Amino acid sequence: MATSAYQIEGACHEDGRGPSIWDRFSHQRGRTRGGATGDCACDHYHRFREDVALMAGLGIQAYRFSIAWTRILPTGSGDLNPHGLDFYDRLVDELLEWGITPYATLFHYDLPQRLQDQGGWPNRNTALRFGEYAQVIGKRFGDRVDHWITHNEPTITATLGYLTGEHAPGQRNPPAAFRALHHILLSHGLAVQALRTAVQGPARIGIAINLTPIYPATPSAQDCRSADLAHMYYGRMVLDPLLKGCYPAELTPAWIWRRLIERVAREGDLETISTPLDFVGVNYYTRAVFRHAPLIGLRPASPRKAERTQMGWEIYSPGLYDLLARLHADYSHSNLIVTENGAAFPDEVSADGQVHDPRRICYLADHVDQVRRAIADGIPVSGYFVWTLLDNFEWALGYTRRFGLVYVDHDTQQRIPKDSYYWYKKVVSGQ
Ligand code: GCO
Repeated sequence: MATSAYQIEGACHEDGRGPSIWDRFSHQRGRTRGGATGDCACDHYHRFREDVALMAGLGIQAYRFSIAWTRILPTGSGDLNPHGLDFYDRLVDELLEWGITPYATLFHYDLPQRLQDQGGWPNRNTALRFGEYAQVIGKRFGDRVDHWITHNEPTITATLGYLTGEHAPGQRNPPAAFRALHHILLSHGLAVQALRTAVQGPARIGIAINLTPIYPATPSAQDCRSADLAHMYYGRMVLDPLLKGCYPAELTPAWIWRRLIERVAREGDLETISTPLDFVGVNYYTRAVFRHAPLIGLRPASPRKAERTQMGWEIYSPGLYDLLARLHADYSHSNLIVTENGAAFPDEVSADGQVHDPRRICYLADHVDQVRRAIADGIPVSGYFVWTLLDNFEWALGYTRRFGLVYVDHDTQQRIPKDSYYWYKKVVSGQ
């Protein structure tokens, strides 16, 4: 099961937590659907025991959550906030008590506002501060937490935050987006190194990458070239530096991207970025199809008739198998984990008081089958996390999308396990 801090915790102004870019952004007019904010979210900060009990009820072995940087270091660096540390102590202890292995993610979009005021991810300084934050976290929780994820979805942070402006901090500045991407990757490497020294005992460290397998619209050579190009933008821009220690070679100096990155990359950065990892996490929701287009080289060509989730994403479970297979073939990492997979549907409480979500069950069943198929074919997949436990704050879409196995009434905070919750419980127990 996977969640993230800003999407569920609430209690944004409590116990010394500092403001993050999502606090600022969600309070700006017109940024989120219906003006929604994470101020209360699912009130998990106060209800975490109930939520952990729900997970224990599922019988799951592991829980992936994120730590809010500004609960620990309210301005991103400097003085520690003891109440923030205490909260995650209580959460981790509660998980361990129930026999659930914690997977702690250090960053899930909620950059300290103070660091954004100093330039945010486009500023190299942010990467250095992230390394220090990782050191603090590793020291404090490393005696009980063995599994670590540095970043969630680096390309989303860089592109939605600094290129399209759909996410915090809401900038539309292409050069800044590329600088951000490089510094996020650098900060990842610095965090891996910091965790390795700070954590006493075994540390299993990875990263969660959003990956979309790309298919050509037709088998024509032109469409295949377009699909390769799209894969370079979407996947290899992070996979190659992380796992091969270089940006894709096709980014020749003629490419503006390469020039933008070269301007900020310093000697030794790529060695840091490619510090070896214990696992590679993959967040999978859908696939993408591209065809050739004159001038720009490619354009999306998603099939018109496909079945889609409430996000408008095509449901295509074989894409998960293909993605894992390609990752294994291209990078041969010995340990892959599906760190997110799930679907949003417009769930409602029925007259019988239950939430019937057959489409989610179908979605998850098909994707779990693809993971099993991958394992049967010798692809080293060691874990699978469902996104997500609770209906929560879906970023710019606010509370209009329900991804949870547990329905949340956003007015009362009442939790109602959906049919998919009971179904997943059976899957976990092997029935
Ligand atoms: C992301 C995150 C999650 C999302 C989920 C559904 O992809 O942005 O990891 O926070 O809620 O992916 O969109």
